[in-house]
Amino acid sequence: MKRLFFIICLILVFTGLSLAQTGVKKKRPLPYDYGRVIINNYSEKEGLAPVVFDHWLHRAKFTCRLCHVDIGFGMKAGSTGIKASDNIKGYYCGTCHNGKMVSNNRKVFEACSKDKEDIRRCERCHSMGKNVKKENDFNIFTEKLPKERFGNGINWEKAEADGFIKPVDFIEGISIKRHSLTVQKDFALEAKVKGMPEIIFSHKKHTIWNGCEVCHPEIFVGVKRGATKYSMVEIFDGKYCGVCHGAVAFPLIDCQRCHTKPV
Ligand code: HEC
Ligand code: HEC
Ligand code: HEC
Ligand code: HEC
Ligand code: HEC
Ligand code: HEC
Repeated sequence: MKRLFFIICLILVFTGLSLAQTGVKKKRPLPYDYGRVIINNYSEKEGLAPVVFDHWLHRAKFTCRLCHVDIGFGMKAGSTGIKASDNIKGYYCGTCHNGKMVSNNRKVFEACSKDKEDIRRCERCHSMGKNVKKENDFNIFTEKLPKERFGNGINWEKAEADGFIKPVDFIEGISIKRHSLTVQKDFALEAKVKGMPEIIFSHKKHTIWNGCEVCHPEIFVGVKRGATKYSMVEIFDGKYCGVCHGAVAFPLIDCQRCHTKPV
């Protein structure tokens, strides 16, 4: 059984990797580049460098849900269509980058303005191709965090569980007060191929990061298990679990973190 799994794995790794190579993703990103999003619907047209957004720093401070549900960022690069005027009014990046919110004992720098006088501030975000020195250095920031092989090279779950990071889940005036929802039980997703180890999907663990609305109903209609049919090929193609795993959460080459349960 183990052997069969291994063979299937090899086949899938190769078809998967070749899929990945014909797609947008090219080479394996460096730990600090993993989860980086380039936003450039308008910047270059307006004579500014494209915006670079790093997930590693932001996800260490805030939950996915806060940004992707309450603030309303889409889960695909460029899909939100952020405008400078939105940021100035306090939406999107401007929810926090307003020169008022305090994080780490200092005020979070302001986002866009109408003029380019304070160009050094602009270039903290409009930074692609510019040699901008980051105030938060990846290596220093992640030094003490538990390590993992792939993605950012960080075990984000353990970092949270051990109290190294405490992602904020609520911003006054932005987030809606929720009843604490009953977390669904963990369950095993049965792979369609015989001999494949089952996947234990943990609602409890996912909900820490994601809440419910990040996944339901857009990624998984599933109010009933089995309602959504998906295969590994679709996951490699960036659908279902692959929306997050491969872009921000640990990547798909880490087969065993999902296919864990022994047969
Ligand atoms: C501080 C806010 C913030 C947090 C926290 C955050 N994101 Fe994002 N995320 C964004 C923004 C902004 C984008 C880009 C949206 C756009 O370009 O329109 C994005 C894009 C994405 C994308 C698409 C990436 C791509 O390459 O197309 C995925 C997937 C994603 N986020 C998942 C997550 C997950 C999972 C978490 C939690 C572990 C998370 N995000 C936490 C703001 C955030
Ligand atoms: C939920 C709040 C929140 C949102 C939304 C948010 N940020 Fe941030 N961002 C922060 C905080 C907090 C920091 C850390 C500030 C510091 O270190 O002083 C930060 C830091 C940064 C940095 C500085 C990196 C460095 O080390 O110099 C950049 C660049 C950045 N954010 C870009 C963006 C962009 C672009 C968006 C919108 C697409 C965005 N952020 C949305 C809270 C947010
Ligand atoms: C906290 C991050 C951040 C900072 C700082 C920032 N911007 Fe932006 N800005 C964005 C994002 C995100 C977009 C959307 C990018 C895109 O789609 O091209 C944007 C878009 C723009 C656009 C595109 C046109 C439009 O109407 O949307 C202009 C112009 C702009 N910003 C001006 C500025 C100026 C001037 C500064 C400095 C005073 C500045 N920005 C600083 C995040 C930032
Ligand atoms: C990371 C994504 C994700 C998050 C976050 C998430 N779910 Fe799910 N949920 C799933 C998947 C995947 C399934 C199985 C769907 C399928 O197979 O069609 C599922 C199934 C369900 C089911 C059906 C369970 C069954 O046994 O039939 C319910 C009910 C549910 N989710 C409720 C919730 C609630 C409530 C929350 C928040 C506390 C939540 N989910 C958060 C991904 C998620
Ligand atoms: C909305 C984004 C999102 C989706 C969709 C998603 N995950 Fe995750 N998942 C995460 C995040 C964030 C973590 C925390 C670890 C990290 O970021 O590397 C995580 C952690 C995990 C873990 C490790 C935690 C554990 O249970 O031990 C497993 C396994 C996992 N995901 C499997 C899946 C499977 C299987 C699916 C599809 C049925 C799925 N995930 C869909 C975001 C997502
Ligand atoms: C983020 C979690 C996750 C990771 C990482 C992952 N898988 Fe899967 N895999 C799944 C899910 C979910 C299914 C579908 C289960 C079902 O049939 O309902 C699946 C199904 C499969 C199947 C069954 C056939 C099919 O297409 O559905 C094979 C074979 C497989 N995976 C191999 C791999 C290999 C090889 C890797 C590493 C390169 C890998 N998986 C990494 C979640 C994952």
